[in-house]
Parts: sequence; structure tokens; C-alpha cells
Amino acid sequence: MTLDLAGAARLLREARNVGVLTGAGISAESGIPTFREAMTGLWATFDPEELATMEAFRRQPRMVWEWYAERRKRIGEARPNPGHLALVELERRVGSFTLITQNIDGLHQAAGSRNVVELHGNIRRVKCAGEDTVVERWDETGELPPRCAVCGDHLRPDVVWFGELLPEAALQRAWQVAEECDLFLSIGTSNLVEPAAALPWLAHRSGATVLVINPTTEGQRHGAGIHHLQGPAGELLPALVGVA
Ligand code: OAD
Repeated sequence: MTLDLAGAARLLREARNVGVLTGAGISAESGIPTFREAMTGLWATFDPEELATMEAFRRQPRMVWEWYAERRKRIGEARPNPGHLALVELERRVGSFTLITQNIDGLHQAAGSRNVVELHGNIRRVKCAGEDTVVERWDETGELPPRCAVCGDHLRPDVVWFGELLPEAALQRAWQVAEECDLFLSIGTSNLVEPAAALPWLAHRSGATVLVINPTTEGQRHGAGIHHLQGPAGELLPALVGVA
């Protein structure tokens, strides 16, 4: 059911244990393109199967590294928007609050969120493609991608590529939050990519109320205990926190 701000604020006031899942939509107002908005999204400019897979990386390591370096540069210029900041305030107010994100831009942490579960990694981190260990520093020899000082394999972005498993600890934590929360906010996600897409509905089945914050209800589920607050997160979340 579509809620108004007052109705959504009441849900927040009554909540004792809040779980949140965010997607690319919450970073849209920071100028970072989402994935699937027709012809304006990130995929309008590239075919994900071409670059965001281990096969593509092994086939064209330099191209994949440079494509992520270009995205990392753009993301580095982006700033958290009022939607990110409102979630920081919400974390401060609510007794138990866990923010699960599909985003790899690190903007939740940059905004000040502390309890963040990154399901799809973080573009600002680099890891060894062979050992899967995060690497903080490497020799700039001019070769791209750089090489791991330990095993000599290429370094890669610490993000989940298509066909790869999500980080197990993050996934387990996300399931636990969905099962234990009493209010689950699904913000700025098309809810199309598993296993993240299942989280709001797992929470609902576990007895939580679900509040979807998105300009559209298209592709989202409806039903008892599932509410929709339609509009941009960067406007709705600060307004919501202001009246909750
Ligand atoms: P999508 O691009 O699939 O969906 C973006 C969602 O944000 C859509 O539902 C939009 O309606 C909504 N949206 C747009 N602007 C918004 C705004 N200002 N405020 C709130 N919502 C807004 O992005 P994700 O759902 O995040 O995975 O995509 C999920 C995953 O698919 C990504 O993490 C990525 C991709 O494959 C990997 O790369 C592993």
C-alpha cells in the first residue's frame, strides 16, 4: 500500500530493530548512474558481460582495470547526498540498525554510517585476483593491472563480478538482519538481482513490516505488511527523519 510521509514516520517511530537494503537509486542523487534505467543507466554505455566478469578480466585485464579505474575516479568525485546522511541520523536514533548495501561506491561510509554490510564489495578496495586478499599498496611499475607483491598475479577491484559468489560473512549477516528486524527498508533498488533481492521478502516472511522507498512501484511486490513511499530517496529520507 502506498503510504504518505506521516504513515511512514509512524512505522519508523514504532521500530526497534531496523534493517535497510540500498541499491544504486540512493546514489543517483550523488550523480552516480544506476544500472537499469533505460538508456540513462550505466549499462547504456557498456555490456556488463563484457567487463564485469572474471573471464573478461583474464581475457582483457588492462581494459577491465582501466574501466574500473575510470569509475573509481568518478565515484571519488561524488559526495554523499541527503539520503545517505538521513540514514546516518536514523542509525543514531534507532536501537538496532543495520545497513546492507548492494552499492560499491562507499558513500554510506563516507556519509558516516558505521554498521554497513557490503554485499557486492567496494570499488575503492583492491585485491589479488589469485589469492583474494585485499591489497593496500603496490609498486607502480607502469604495468596495468598492477601485480600482487606476494604471488605476482594481477590485482583487481574488490567487487563481486557476475557469476561470482557474494562474500559469505556479509551474506550471512544480511540474512540474519532480515530474519530479526521488525522494520525493513528497501531503498533505491529494482530488486532484480539475487540473493539481495530476496532480503525484503525474507524479512516480510519473518514478520517484519517492509517499506519500499523508490520513485516507482514498478517491479516491486505489494501486499499486507508491504508499504511504498514513492519518490527520490534524497528528498524522502531527510523528510522522513525530520518527522519521525
Ligand atoms: P538498478 O539500476 O537495478 O535499480 C535502481 C533503482 O533505483 C530503480 O528501482 C529506480 O527506480 C530507483 N531509483 C532511481 N532513482 C532513485 C532515487 N533518486 N531514489 C530512490 N530510488 C531511485 O540498481 P540496483 O537495484 O542497485 O550488482 O542493482 C542491483 C545490482 O544489479 C547492482 O548491485 C549490480 C547490478 O548487477 C553487481 O554489480 C553484482
